[in-house]
Amino acid sequence: MHCSLSSLLPGLLLVKDVVAVPYSDYVLAPSSRTLIPQTVYQSFGSVVDPQSLCDGSESTTVFVGTSSVTYDFGKNIAGIVTLEIEPPSSVNARLGLTFSESSLWISNLSSDATADLGLDATLWFNLSSDQDTYRSVPAQGRGGFRYLSIVSNGTDKVVVRSVSVNFTAAPTQDLRSYTGFFHCNDELVNRIWYAGAYTTQLATIDPRYGNSLDVLVTWPPAVPSMYTDWFSNFTITNGTTALTDGGKRDRLVWAGDMSIALETAIVSTYDLPSIRNSLEALFVLQTADGRFPYASRPFPDRESFTYHLHTLINAGNYYRYSGDVVWLAKYWPKIRLGVAWALGSVDDTGLAFVSANASSDWLRAGMSGHNVEANAMLYFVLQQGVHLAVVMRDRPSIATWTSQAKALKLAATNLLWDEAIGMFRDNETATVHPQDGNAWAVKANLTLSASQRERISSALQARWGPYGAPAPEAGPSTISPFIGGFELQAHYLAGRNHAALELIRRQWGFMLQDPRMTNSTFIEGYSTDGTLHYAPYSNDARVSHSHAWSSGPTSALIFFTAGIQVSDGGASWMIAPQPGDLAMVDAGFSTSLGSFSVSFKRASDGSYTHFEIKAPKGSLGKVQIPSETGVLVSSSGQRARLANGVASGLHGGKWSLLCK
Ligand SMILES: *[C@@H]1O[C@H](CO)[C@@H](O)[C@H](O)[C@H]1NC(C)=O
Ligand SMILES: *[C@@H]1O[C@H](CO)[C@@H](O)[C@H](O)[C@H]1NC(C)=O
Ligand SMILES: *[C@@H]1O[C@H](CO)[C@@H](O)[C@H](O)[C@H]1NC(C)=O
Ligand SMILES: *[C@@H]1O[C@H](CO)[C@@H](O)[C@H](O)[C@H]1NC(C)=O
Ligand SMILES: *[C@@H]1O[C@H](CO)[C@@H](O)[C@H](O)[C@H]1NC(C)=O
Ligand SMILES: *[C@@H]1O[C@H](CO)[C@@H](O)[C@H](O)[C@H]1NC(C)=O
Ligand SMILES: *[C@@H]1O[C@H](CO)[C@@H](O)[C@H](O)[C@H]1NC(C)=O
Ligand SMILES: *[C@@H]1O[C@H](CO)[C@@H](O)[C@H](O)[C@H]1NC(C)=O
Ligand SMILES: *[C@@H]1O[C@H](CO)[C@@H](O)[C@H](O)[C@H]1NC(C)=O
Ligand SMILES: *[C@@H]1O[C@H](CO)[C@@H](O)[C@H](O)[C@H]1NC(C)=O
Repeated sequence: MHCSLSSLLPGLLLVKDVVAVPYSDYVLAPSSRTLIPQTVYQSFGSVVDPQSLCDGSESTTVFVGTSSVTYDFGKNIAGIVTLEIEPPSSVNARLGLTFSESSLWISNLSSDATADLGLDATLWFNLSSDQDTYRSVPAQGRGGFRYLSIVSNGTDKVVVRSVSVNFTAAPTQDLRSYTGFFHCNDELVNRIWYAGAYTTQLATIDPRYGNSLDVLVTWPPAVPSMYTDWFSNFTITNGTTALTDGGKRDRLVWAGDMSIALETAIVSTYDLPSIRNSLEALFVLQTADGRFPYASRPFPDRESFTYHLHTLINAGNYYRYSGDVVWLAKYWPKIRLGVAWALGSVDDTGLAFVSANASSDWLRAGMSGHNVEANAMLYFVLQQGVHLAVVMRDRPSIATWTSQAKALKLAATNLLWDEAIGMFRDNETATVHPQDGNAWAVKANLTLSASQRERISSALQARWGPYGAPAPEAGPSTISPFIGGFELQAHYLAGRNHAALELIRRQWGFMLQDPRMTNSTFIEGYSTDGTLHYAPYSNDARVSHSHAWSSGPTSALIFFTAGIQVSDGGASWMIAPQPGDLAMVDAGFSTSLGSFSVSFKRASDGSYTHFEIKAPKGSLGKVQIPSETGVLVSSSGQRARLANGVASGLHGGKWSLLCK
């Protein structure tokens, strides 16, 4: 510790007692819900002054004959388009709109895709001489697009006065009033944090406008070259807002996706109503024997052992970050029944045996038998369940789940651990060492020692390619930024935070900055060679470029880099930074109890020259800074010495690290 009191002073001035949202310049959500295009991306045919639609001026844009203009909003957005035009002279005039998230699918004939077949058809407006305003209906709002093309294919002249988008995502949020913030000395990492938060805002929708999945009504569907039924008019849950998988698609609640998205929402917008409404969509579909669905309506019912577990994990996380005991008590019988359903698959090996019928997962194959991801997740559910059962004073569940968990861990070690490779096998007979199961094994503490966790983390890192971390369980060339989010957590939990930061920069840096991406939101999946082909889909235009399951760094940077971890709604907490190579971090988020923050600076040898935290009054926690030996002083003058880098029993308030 080389700090002096004077080096603390600049930091003290940074303390966030003011109401202004810190670092709001990085927030990608718009300040107004009415958006106009930023620039002209390209135009064809004869178009006079296409630029005038970008500056909000009085001047008009004139399409003469067959022509089109593609506008760029500068980032991925969502909403309903309004066109103001001068009434045409001809009754046959029409204007079409096409949308694309990626520059790859810009076209004057079609939009990118929402189905696994074909492309989404142009939205046409027949112009009439007595009407000057045209608006897409909410059912054909577009949940994700950066590029909007306006197409005129008549012989006439069409005079457009304005084009605007009513931004419909995150319908109940004050879009830029984040309750969380993250700042460090690496600009790329900062931008990644905010892009993850924004991605999750785009996936937050008015639940009346979920995907109607009309293409699934006939299965297998006919092969259209043009998919005209991309209606988002299915009510997926009650209430006015819901957290879904993605803006463009599916606009449905998927429990797996929510395991990442929920925590992103917690650390950025703390949008609890969206989480509650989405959990409700899954809970209402629980079967009498306890099984939760794969996805919300209208997705066809399918058994998924892992997504069933994700619903339980999300329920536990909702309680963890909200401290909402009333909610927990209301759902406790359903949660217990859900755990019992999963435990019904445990056979005499001590492991759950996933039936072939329940093998639907994140579109990886081979998810059956004694699968390690499924079992690691079940172990996680049991550990989390024991904590919840303590809150609910449910002694029988504590006893059963504790002993089942112990047996499961022993069996997983004996049957699935591959000592020669230093990773878990996918199942007893598999030669694949999966990304999902190994990341979850560390996350769930299915491991026995720190050295075992380090081996897994190192083995995962050894497989990285130039574009990120592969998921060999999903084919030879898949990168899943969803499972990558769990891998990040695993590196931190293994104490290998340099690896975690390196993966964030490499993989999410690519996902943010590559010109085929939106420079604002994160893609659903791609290939190890950097092509934007996601193996489970045959149609590359379908891939979502705003998929909340890909926002893993946003919570990982708060929970691990800044190191702020809470439970029971924030009543208890631990602040244990793992800064990697970062020289400064200033980060925080709020729960209903109040705000948590940490701010530190480090010298080039890694020692802290400034370290300060804040936690709400009435809470209790501990600070853990490995290798530091100083004294923490609270704003009310209390002192706590770090012993082996740990000071516990700290009351909420402001604490700073003093010199020895
Ligand atoms: C449509 O786009 C193509 C290029 O993809 C271009 O050649 C053609 O002129 C455009 N047509 C219109 C009507 O904009
Ligand atoms: C627009 O006009 C075309 C013919 O030009 C017609 O087929 C179509 O039904 C019309 N659409 C609407 C919504 O009126
Ligand atoms: C305009 O587009 C519509 C719908 O795709 C098509 O039916 C029509 O033939 C096109 N007209 C011209 C002049 O290209
Ligand atoms: C924007 O869309 C929302 C949801 O459909 C609607 O309530 C609101 O009135 C619209 N605002 C404008 C300016 O069109
Ligand atoms: C969605 O809108 C389409 C077109 O209006 C309609 O045919 C369909 O029935 C609607 N679906 C639902 C679930 O409301
Ligand atoms: C919505 O509310 C109705 C009436 O209370 C209830 O029957 C239904 O199950 C709820 N649906 C969802 C998805 O929450
Ligand atoms: C398989 O799952 C479906 C629903 O996902 C269910 O209807 C069916 O009964 C299950 N079959 C077996 C053999 O469990
Ligand atoms: C075991 O794992 C391998 C590799 O993922 C997979 O191909 C196989 O289907 C799995 N076995 C079962 C029973 O699911
Ligand atoms: C992980 O499990 C081991 C026992 O196998 C236990 O000693 C350790 O405390 C657990 N770690 C956490 C963080 O729960
Ligand atoms: C990407 O967005 C950032 C702002 O978030 C901006 O500074 C940068 O110029 C953009 N990059 C490109 C290539 O547009």
